[in-house]
Amino acid sequence: MKYVLITGASSGIGKALAEKFAKQNHNLIIVARRDKLLNDLKKELEIKYKIRVLVYVYDLSIYENVIKFYDQIKNFDIEVFINNAGFGDRNDPWDSDLYKIKKMIDLNITALTIFSILFIKDNLNKDVQLINVSSTAGYKIWLGGIIYSASKFYVSVFGEGIAKLILEKKAKLKMKILAPSSTKTEFVTRSVVKSKVDQKILKESEAKRSFYQKSPQLLAEYAYKLYQSDKIIGIVDSFKDKFYLEDNYFEIM
Ligand SMILES: NC(=O)c1ccc[n+]([C@@H]2O[C@H](COP(=O)([O-])OP(=O)(O)OC[C@H]3O[C@@H](n4cnc5c(N)ncnc54)[C@H](OP(=O)(O)O)[C@@H]3O)[C@@H](O)[C@H]2O)c1
Repeated sequence: MKYVLITGASSGIGKALAEKFAKQNHNLIIVARRDKLLNDLKKELEIKYKIRVLVYVYDLSIYENVIKFYDQIKNFDIEVFINNAGFGDRNDPWDSDLYKIKKMIDLNITALTIFSILFIKDNLNKDVQLINVSSTAGYKIWLGGIIYSASKFYVSVFGEGIAKLILEKKAKLKMKILAPSSTKTEFVTRSVVKSKVDQKILKESEAKRSFYQKSPQLLAEYAYKLYQSDKIIGIVDSFKDKFYLEDNYFEIM
């Protein structure tokens, strides 16, 4: 039995991805910290689409949990591994809460890197996909959240580099990067936790942002297009309802 694995599936883009892949008849492995949300989603999707959903509850910003979780799921037949769990921090870097940004780097970079390495090692010559979720802030510098933006540049460069290396080695695994633009999820709420940015400025920038915000369902449709295509990068337009599929973004040296 094949599975699509989605990290951070309890809300937002991850939840919408779970719904989209379930609707297309894929079985799922979903993981995040909020077990009730994950189990409610499992019940709903299993009844609605007659698929199988396996739930795991882990804080993936903790190294030991990443290793333990991978160990538990590695023997399932995983056709797509989606590294989606991540969060942001809306602060000038020097005003950031050090513990929060450590956790952000541990999740956005460390967990994603470890899962990617382990999944590629086990599946390099199999017909499977690894999709890592970056951001448009992983291609353009977001001054409102520079550390988050830098963490997503890592995701973009890491993913595109691996994709190119895999092509060079003529291995079978497909490495892809999804870059959402502003999407209506819990992202903003989490980004402003411990933010020292002035409330008035925050409200103004959120009002601007909400004007262009996509729905997580639209993002899931785009992600499915990326999954079905042979392209490496899927970038969402920040201002229009457009999605671009590309083979290259960064120069290779
Ligand atoms: N929304 C946007 O505007 C936007 C734009 C570009 C890129 N993105 C990226 O899209 C991805 C999904 O974010 P979202 O917008 O859907 O936000 P979201 O609604 O906050 O979803 C984040 C998901 O990650 C999980 N998560 C957070 N911390 C975790 C931890 N320590 N361990 C395990 N799971 C954890 C959350 O579940 P629990 O809290 O239950 O653990 C939740 O399921 C992120 O990588 C984000 O950077 C978002």
